[in-house]
Amino acid sequence: MARKIAFINHKGGVGKTSLLVNIATSLAILGKRVLIYDFDTQSNASIWLLRLDRWNKINASSEGAIYSIFEPATQRVKDVVWSKNDESSLPGLDIVTTTFNLVNLENEYRGEPSRPPYVIFRDQLAEIEDAYDFILFDCPPNILRASQCGIFCANEIYVPSNPDALSLIEFTLLVEKLGKFHQLSVSFRISAQGVPAQVQGIIFNSIKTGVDIDVPRMRMQLRLNQYRSAKRVAPKAKLFGQHVRDAMIVRRAVTLGLPVAMVNTNMDSGGDETVVDDYRKVAAALLRHGDDLNG
Ligand SMILES: Nc1ncnc2c1ncn2[C@@H]1O[C@H](COP(=O)(O)OP(=O)(O)OP(=O)(O)O)[C@@H](O)[C@H]1O
Ligand SMILES: [Mg+2]
Repeated sequence: MARKIAFINHKGGVGKTSLLVNIATSLAILGKRVLIYDFDTQSNASIWLLRLDRWNKINASSEGAIYSIFEPATQRVKDVVWSKNDESSLPGLDIVTTTFNLVNLENEYRGEPSRPPYVIFRDQLAEIEDAYDFILFDCPPNILRASQCGIFCANEIYVPSNPDALSLIEFTLLVEKLGKFHQLSVSFRISAQGVPAQVQGIIFNSIKTGVDIDVPRMRMQLRLNQYRSAKRVAPKAKLFGQHVRDAMIVRRAVTLGLPVAMVNTNMDSGGDETVVDDYRKVAAALLRHGDDLNG
């Protein structure tokens, strides 16, 4: 059964998309079958992985992207999967892209109240999920309708975060909003979904060399412990010991349209290509956490 994982934080720009794309790549390199869903109208993951020219064509036609399963509802989830298998460097990594019209889901979209978008999405996802080991949902920094699709279908939630005071506040807000959404959507759940996804982990990103993160780690750990005791996050939720350093090559990889591990390391990378090891270690920690949950 696929592990369905949402990456979300109420705070923008913390590294949700870059972590998700690069962890997905690490998993694909290990031979896992991975599907990424881009639920962020900004389309960062889609543009990153499909490259701008290909994504521009999809964006212009509005066909072949996630919004078309809702409006005009002419395509199903299985019709909008883009496979990276054709690019031999990245076998096993598929993506369902978004386009700018996904923003219409938040306002213009008028579906049947008895079938909110996350229910439509869940029913269609079921048709393809057996083909994957991991299904990863990249969410925007809110819990509006697009994010809700990922959160409703996920079994696990991970929170990319930066070690600063604001992140602690945003984490608190996220846990509250998740709780409210689960309450609102509980009557739509079916038994095959299992229990609503709770936060399983926090992953620190963009850590600058020489910056001491002991105090922010301790504060975040304390908050996590409180939430664990109050059963507001998963019983085994943890602040990952593995983090991702701040590295210029991450920003360059976005421009090149490649996951960091695929950027030609012969290029001048400023000596910081070891960030690939960070992603690999976080991916390995994610695999171990999954074993721990099942064991
Ligand atoms: N480890 C890193 N080192 C350097 N730059 C990074 C790192 N991680 C992310 N960035 C840069 O920070 C910016 C924000 O990253 P990213 O898009 O992954 O964040 P996000 O949380 O998905 O943002 P949003 O909330 O807008 O979706 C990007 O320009 C990205 O290249
Ligand atoms: Mg993002």
